[in-house]
Amino acid sequence: MCGIVAYTGHKEAYPIIIKGLKRLEYRGYDSTGVALLNGGLNVYKKKGKVSDLEAHLKDVHLAGNIGIGHTRWATHGAPNDVNAHPHYSSDKKLAIIHNGIIENYSVIKQDLINKGHIFLSETDSEVLIHFIEDIQVHANCSLEEAVRLALQKVVGAYAIVIMSEDNPRRLIAARKGSPLVIGVGKDEYFLASDATPIIEYTKEVIYLDDHHIAVIANNHLSIKSLEDIPIIPYVHTLELELESIEKGGYEHFMLKEIFEQPKSVKDSMRGRINAHKGHILLGGLREYINKLTQAQRIIILGCGTSWHAGLVAEYVFEELARIPVEVEYASEFRYRNPIINEGDVVIAISQSGETADTLAAIELAKSKGAIIFGVCNVVGSSIPRATHAGAYTHAGPEIGVASTKAFTAQVTVLTMMAIVVAKTKGTISDSLYRELLYALEAIPDQIQKTLNNHSQIKYISSIFRDARNFLYLGRGYNFPVALEGALKLKEISYIHAEGYPAAEMKHGPIALIDEEMPVVFIATQDSSYEKVVSNIQEVRARKGRVIAVVTEGDKLIKQMAEFVIEIPATHEALVPLLSVIPLQLLSYYIAVMRGCNVDQPRNLAKSVTVE
Ligand code: F6R
Repeated sequence: MCGIVAYTGHKEAYPIIIKGLKRLEYRGYDSTGVALLNGGLNVYKKKGKVSDLEAHLKDVHLAGNIGIGHTRWATHGAPNDVNAHPHYSSDKKLAIIHNGIIENYSVIKQDLINKGHIFLSETDSEVLIHFIEDIQVHANCSLEEAVRLALQKVVGAYAIVIMSEDNPRRLIAARKGSPLVIGVGKDEYFLASDATPIIEYTKEVIYLDDHHIAVIANNHLSIKSLEDIPIIPYVHTLELELESIEKGGYEHFMLKEIFEQPKSVKDSMRGRINAHKGHILLGGLREYINKLTQAQRIIILGCGTSWHAGLVAEYVFEELARIPVEVEYASEFRYRNPIINEGDVVIAISQSGETADTLAAIELAKSKGAIIFGVCNVVGSSIPRATHAGAYTHAGPEIGVASTKAFTAQVTVLTMMAIVVAKTKGTISDSLYRELLYALEAIPDQIQKTLNNHSQIKYISSIFRDARNFLYLGRGYNFPVALEGALKLKEISYIHAEGYPAAEMKHGPIALIDEEMPVVFIATQDSSYEKVVSNIQEVRARKGRVIAVVTEGDKLIKQMAEFVIEIPATHEALVPLLSVIPLQLLSYYIAVMRGCNVDQPRNLAKSVTVE
């Protein structure tokens, strides 16, 4: 949440910062601000999106080779011009951009007020820059030293960049718990919350670690720890391509990402599976694979869509590898006193690799001695660095706020993990093993076939675009898909939707069914097919409007449902990889038809780096 960008070098800073903020807008979009050094330290900020600030500044001369910028997802204080970042110090000679939360800000603020500081905004970030200023004045030290001393006293999470009028060729950055990437160009440096604002200028990046402070002065970078110990940074070369973060002709990132799934699922499997040779290998797990194979219990942690992928994995691991699985909301797990026994293994799932609750849950499990595996998409993000081993999903950047290709990539990787464990443990036969590998390899083409049906789904969307509620029902492997379908719809179209195991309907939700209620059944031909058919009858008997996702060629449900959407047949354990696709499209088209901003739905941010 909140995106930050900064630049120092020989180019004009403003266009680089604005373009970078647009790439980071998925992280928050309720206000935007930029600070530049051009005849003094000038801050320009505005409620609204990056384009609103840009329009507001169109006639302003914005020269300068050094600057910082911020796109905000409000935590402390309403989204308005005053609370927007950057924030000034009292003397207006320092400016800060901040992503995160300073938890002890109110105590620090009160102390500063007692000393005469006046605050303009309600934000914790303004308190931090005043605190740094105050330390610098009273300790009579350098700005770097003041930042270091302040951060030693601060509780919470931050990625910050500070610019100073008195040090015109200097940026100071630091992180703890919120991401910060430094791009290393030729006589220029870029800082950003992730690599997307940087890749068109350089592929050489440094992922700043927690508790580290970077100083870029006169085109020289140095990094120290909070204890003032020099750090030698590791420079990574990015593999990201510019096209992967652009819309590429699609109207929205979400649509592009839905349609990318044949490729992204293939990329998740690339080099890891060869059905013909009977191979499946996840290199990142190699060192710890025995821990997983011998696990007495697997605890899966995640939030939102990643939690849904974890629920699919629960069915897959239990069925194939015969290991008991518990799937936990990371936000709940972290505040319980969870029991971790020897032999328990934790799998943490996260697209962004930055979700604060998931990170905190990992740290808690680690402190109790658990071995942790990560399943993440963003390379170099915090969660892969906090886990013992893991497998990247390699879905490519996901920019639409609603997760789509990340889900199918997560399910693909988790399924591969379960197959590896099952094979090693001998809980599946050789023939089932082969069958699963071939079935997995066929999935990308089957997703493509499902996507080819988009006009039918668009038509169905036009019928239900004005519905006020939706129910999603599925059983077994398709129960998590029902939850995911409902989440997709509510987050981007603002229609109230609920997902349930189909059989639970009669324990309550059935009361909601009337002739206006659309009920989406995921009713593929699997072990619970007959049961789901009965549930469809129950809805029809109460005049509910049934949309059913069925296996290709299904004749029975065609006679009962108002609409059927066919998906190709596959092994039961892999069905979620196909059945979720029509639900993603349904929510997308309905949201577009309702005039919603699908890539940036209200109140949401892609990377939830606050509690
Ligand atoms: C839903 C969605 C969120 C995320 C959740 C976890 O479409 O995007 O529910 O799935 O915030 O995020 P990650 O996977 O980045 O940890």
